[in-house]
Amino acid sequence: MKVDVLLGLQWGDEGKGKIVDVVTPEYDIIARFQGGPNAGHTLIFEGQKQVLHTIPSGIFRTNCKNVIGNGVVIDPVTLKAEIEAIQAKGVDVSTNLLISKKAHLILPTHKILDKASEEAKGKKKIGSTLKGIGPTYMDKTGRNGIRMGDTQSPNFKEKYNALVEKHVGILGDYDYQSILSETEEAWFDALKFLSNIELIDSEQYINNAMQSGKKVLAEGAQGTLLDIDFGTYPYVTSSNTVTAGTCTGLGVAPNKIGDVIGIFKAYCTRVGSGPFPTELDDEVGENIRKIGHEYGATTGRDRRCGWIDLPALKYACMINGTTKLSMMKADVLDTFGTIKVCTHYEINGERVDYLPYDITDLDITPVYKDVKGWNKDLTQLRDLKDAPQEFLDYITYLETELNVPITIVSVGPDREQTIMRN
Ligand code: GDP
Ligand code: IMO
Ligand code: MG
Repeated sequence: MKVDVLLGLQWGDEGKGKIVDVVTPEYDIIARFQGGPNAGHTLIFEGQKQVLHTIPSGIFRTNCKNVIGNGVVIDPVTLKAEIEAIQAKGVDVSTNLLISKKAHLILPTHKILDKASEEAKGKKKIGSTLKGIGPTYMDKTGRNGIRMGDTQSPNFKEKYNALVEKHVGILGDYDYQSILSETEEAWFDALKFLSNIELIDSEQYINNAMQSGKKVLAEGAQGTLLDIDFGTYPYVTSSNTVTAGTCTGLGVAPNKIGDVIGIFKAYCTRVGSGPFPTELDDEVGENIRKIGHEYGATTGRDRRCGWIDLPALKYACMINGTTKLSMMKADVLDTFGTIKVCTHYEINGERVDYLPYDITDLDITPVYKDVKGWNKDLTQLRDLKDAPQEFLDYITYLETELNVPITIVSVGPDREQTIMRN
């Protein structure tokens, strides 16, 4: 069996958590391959809402194992809180959750470094979630990091102290003492708590499972435009959020990748700093934010809102090898008479229909096509044969432009508000 991948095609928060939860019954294993507690994946079912940060979104389904892969970075404190919240809902996490020994640990000092780095950047700050993601991946690639497997080593405390000492050296005069003394004890307590969760060689586990015919879904975090290589650098996260990240973040060979399900909103959002060509800094953007409840699931920040951007989406489909699309939150546009679709950009009087290098300082004018709105409530829709024609036209137009079929249409946040399309 091959591994299917489900990931975001925009700047994150496309609704990955919801769709992973919906499709989990088709899979035996759900595995996160990158990112960490900067992610916030929302699941809503049976009137209950749950936000997951590190745990894969298959955790609420029985008969499914959830693996935190080697490419993920783990903050024990956040993970402990997540596990406790899920256990309180009666889920047996101790048998359904497995953690890669090779996943790197976010130390309290990584979070302090994140904060110090953002403060030093001033107006040019990334708008990081301040979860310690960047500094942890820096230590990983700098070959200084500590991994989950190290927690089982007798000299773990020595390794920890050595890394903290290095961080203290970097922090210099920065006032870190009070934060560190407030957070360190909880960090070690959380690690102790996590010793109840099985640590595995996840690359072996996943490859063995594939060989024995088990179905695996790799769950992405963030989105393609936040990818460290292909996103709007430097306003990105510090990992490969694209399909290739599955290979390095889980130990899956490229020829073992099956379907790649790319998720996008019927419009577009971004949280944090950085370029966003189709951003709506007006009443329309405010309306999308209010109707779509576009506030960060991890930080609560307002998400910036704008129209759908086809050049950026085409780029994302290309980089990921997207084979199927899932369109989210179309219901948010239910009351819009006209919907705009950015078909290309105008840069220095020239027409550009791809995503150019470093759009941060470019003077980009998005060029739009007007699409007639459907002006009907989609939230009760369960079969596309009952859908308004304008909505069907919107779907057909987008899939023709992107040259990838839209196989899932989401019309509300609940598990049930999902339409599978052949
Ligand atoms: P993720 O990070 O990609 O998992 O997405 P988030 O959970 O951060 O953000 C998606 C938000 O949209 C959450 O609040 C979801 O409950 C909500 N949502 C998901 N799908 C739909 C949909 O089709 N319609 C509406 N109105 N909300 C949705
Ligand atoms: P999910 O998985 C949306 C953004 C931050 C910031 C930039 C870098 O829920 O889609 P970092 O904390 O990684 O240093 O932040 O990336 N960002 C996200 N935006 N959804 C996410 O995850 C995000 N994770 C990070 O806002 O702009
Ligand atoms: Mg999110």
